[in-house]
Amino acid sequence: MASGARAVARCDAIGAAPYSDTEYGLFRPYLGPAHRATIAKIDEWMQAAGMRTWIDPAANLVGRYEGAAPDARALLIGSHIDSVNDAGRYDGPLGVMLGIEVVAALAERQRRLPFAIEVIAFGDEEGSRFPASMMCSRAVAGTLDISATMISDGDGISLEQSLAAFGLERSRMTDAARSPESIIGYVEAHIEQGPVLESEGLAVGVVRGIAAQKRFAVTVTGQAGHAGTSAMHLRRDALAAAAEAILAVERVAQEGPADLVATVGRLAVSPGATNVVPGKVDFTIDVRAGRDEMRDAAAGQIIAAISAVADKRGVSLNIEESQRLAASPCDPVLMDRLAEAISSVGQPVRKLVSGAGHDAMVMASLAPTAMLFLRCTGGISHNPGESVDPADAELALAAMSAFVEGLAA
Ligand code: HGY
Ligand code: MN
Ligand code: MN
Repeated sequence: MASGARAVARCDAIGAAPYSDTEYGLFRPYLGPAHRATIAKIDEWMQAAGMRTWIDPAANLVGRYEGAAPDARALLIGSHIDSVNDAGRYDGPLGVMLGIEVVAALAERQRRLPFAIEVIAFGDEEGSRFPASMMCSRAVAGTLDISATMISDGDGISLEQSLAAFGLERSRMTDAARSPESIIGYVEAHIEQGPVLESEGLAVGVVRGIAAQKRFAVTVTGQAGHAGTSAMHLRRDALAAAAEAILAVERVAQEGPADLVATVGRLAVSPGATNVVPGKVDFTIDVRAGRDEMRDAAAGQIIAAISAVADKRGVSLNIEESQRLAASPCDPVLMDRLAEAISSVGQPVRKLVSGAGHDAMVMASLAPTAMLFLRCTGGISHNPGESVDPADAELALAAMSAFVEGLAA
């Protein structure tokens, strides 16, 4: 029986090994063993809901529920099934499971709509394994730069080898691209990953737009030295320089508008020995703002600030931009339809901006997009403490079912 509670329970069912590549907690990187096991499990659920399923050339799992006429254009409902390290269980999978429940509810009533519904489980959104992100929705949207896929993970395993283990060819990832004429729209249900809905006592919300993002990989190169014999005034300590640079990143964001955020999430020190002055440090920067212009202005200030630190300390800097995503407004017509659907199930309509990135940003270049947010406890996400009330998932499912019926009408 289709239910929002079952969608939550299924996220729990795949929230640990063997659907995680770690023995404890949840880490489901693109093309790892857990990804393969998760595809197999979700495939079962899609088929049980009455869908035909396949794996596309980018290792996305797709399920299709036919419309009243064969080869009808499709409404895509999707999200990602990869995760960050030590992740929560709902960031991504919940949107896939709710898509399956929308179809199951239709199939139970032998209901056929004027359009097909395709549920997509994207394999890479987080970029938690390879130095690229959103590769799978880019492949479907036709915006994947194939020359940027000659990459390897931290263990030196290439994307090429990993896809080959799935029976797929890296050079053919772009064959996953869908034609815009075959799609009527893309809808993604996702936890808010923030505090707004919970603070206002709301179960669901309509996403107005998704913040712009830029990510950088920074390398600081100083001079490794003996901790006992290197005089302080002669040192070119890469870690001390990085520490001052990271505080400069934080200061730029703190002094900017409320929707500007900047994060240094990853840092590696080499050689990483107690008695060696660090010679090299690698760290990442993630900058986001509601508008592209603000994102770019802040990124420029950050680069200027950390360059000044490097000059003062006599260390060298290498800064590579590793990701750029434009702010993505959702489609006004689909947003209105989603708002009507939420009202029709007795819920207040709250529109909000998403600071988190989503596949919907990428899918916006293929089709009109809309996102439904679900309240998550404490706004906690990217953290095993992530949690969703099954009652909120029931409301989300009711709203999504009303949304597809509204489109059909
Ligand atoms: O980083 C993000 O906003 C998303 O979780 N990929
Ligand atoms: Mn997500
Ligand atoms: Mn995420």
